[in-house]
Amino acid sequence: MDKILVKGGRRLEGEVAVGGSKNAALPILISSLLTAEPCRYQGIPDLVDIHTALKLLSGLGVRVEKERSPFRGVGELTLQADRVSKMEASYDLVKTMRASFLVMGPLLSRFGAARVSTPGGCAIGARPVNLHLKGLAEMGAGIDLVHGYAEARTRKLHGAKIYLDVPSVGATENLMMAASLADGTTAIENAAKEPEIEELALVLNKMGARIEGAGSDIVKIEGIDELHGVSHRIIPDRIEAGTFMVAAALTRGDIVVRGARPDHLDAFLLKLREAGVGLTVAGDEIRVKGDGKAKSVDITTLPYPGFPTDLQAQMMVLMSVSDGVSMITETIFENRFMHAQELSRMGADIRLEGNRAIIKGVESLSGAPVMATDLRASVSLVLAGLVATGRTEISRIYHLDRGYEHIEKKLSNMGADIQRIKG
Ligand code: UD1
Repeated sequence: MDKILVKGGRRLEGEVAVGGSKNAALPILISSLLTAEPCRYQGIPDLVDIHTALKLLSGLGVRVEKERSPFRGVGELTLQADRVSKMEASYDLVKTMRASFLVMGPLLSRFGAARVSTPGGCAIGARPVNLHLKGLAEMGAGIDLVHGYAEARTRKLHGAKIYLDVPSVGATENLMMAASLADGTTAIENAAKEPEIEELALVLNKMGARIEGAGSDIVKIEGIDELHGVSHRIIPDRIEAGTFMVAAALTRGDIVVRGARPDHLDAFLLKLREAGVGLTVAGDEIRVKGDGKAKSVDITTLPYPGFPTDLQAQMMVLMSVSDGVSMITETIFENRFMHAQELSRMGADIRLEGNRAIIKGVESLSGAPVMATDLRASVSLVLAGLVATGRTEISRIYHLDRGYEHIEKKLSNMGADIQRIKG
């Protein structure tokens, strides 16, 4: 299995281009199931999760045409779901990538049947899909849970008023897709407001759907009979952009992050500023200058527009070497502090109390062999390696490859001493 080796102590300089958003691309690729016409997407990042989604879709009978771009990973893709022959997503695929569960809504609303494995727990928490299923049942689906699969069928979904107990990103996406082809109007209350929701609604509307309010608490979808093809470029990955910004702040570097959407990063940018990191925003470019030690700040993860849980681990690294004591409260996932133990092995002073981490800034971290059990935890260890003394060897990096496109190349282009060791 591949490893990443980082030798710490280099200041990052130069620029880095942000890739397409993984979390926007996944539901959008899956939304191609809603029409028989070709759907063309640009800016698709070259990530293991994207390849898993393509495997899932081609297994259902979707035709996938790749136009590999020499500069931007898988780049352009055309998907056409005119010969869908299977209504099933297997346990193997869903356990590899939970977003596979999103095929449930589109399959059910277009074909009237779907059999999708339920994902089970994952490293960061229980992550149930009860809200996806409850919403679909309220739209008229009959759902049985049999042998680890959710088996759903309907003659035709109908509109419904649905309240989500928590503003789940995945449930909002699944229900928006299902409601687009339902009879009548659906209202999703307490919907998730993430930029990826707005992006999916934009794509569905380009396909002819009638969706209003995406990005607010209430999303209304007036169902129609048929959707058509679309051409769309995916928004930049806000989490990747934020990760590079933390890398610059940590190494007291000076970098420009290009092709970003600063408006998607408000809470994060405010927190970085509060920590004393120099930021200049001009259009889609963000210059990050880390002058000296960052100041400790408290952070609470929240649904968008709050501070994103997907940037919590990265900020914990910055707080580990900042001036003072900070408290990070994780409110989205119940077990998302696994990086804390690994960071402690590198010399960080972190105390965990339930969903809170109290972090006392230390002078320096020291390199060590480490590993992580989820995507954002893995990248936080790469970041820690950039400022640690000596060598940090990160194993189990398949997690990293799920969500970061050529991360070692992007960081070494800015001066980091980082390499992948094939194993
Ligand atoms: C998405 C993102 C992930 C991010 C997360 C929160 C993708 C592919 N992944 O995951 O990177 O960390 O949003 O911003 O976009 N919940 C329930 N019942 C449900 C569904 C969710 O209780 O039916 C709970 C979850 O356990 C969790 C919370 O709701 O505590 C938020 O989860 P959700 O927004 O659904 O996350 P995902 O869509 O899985």
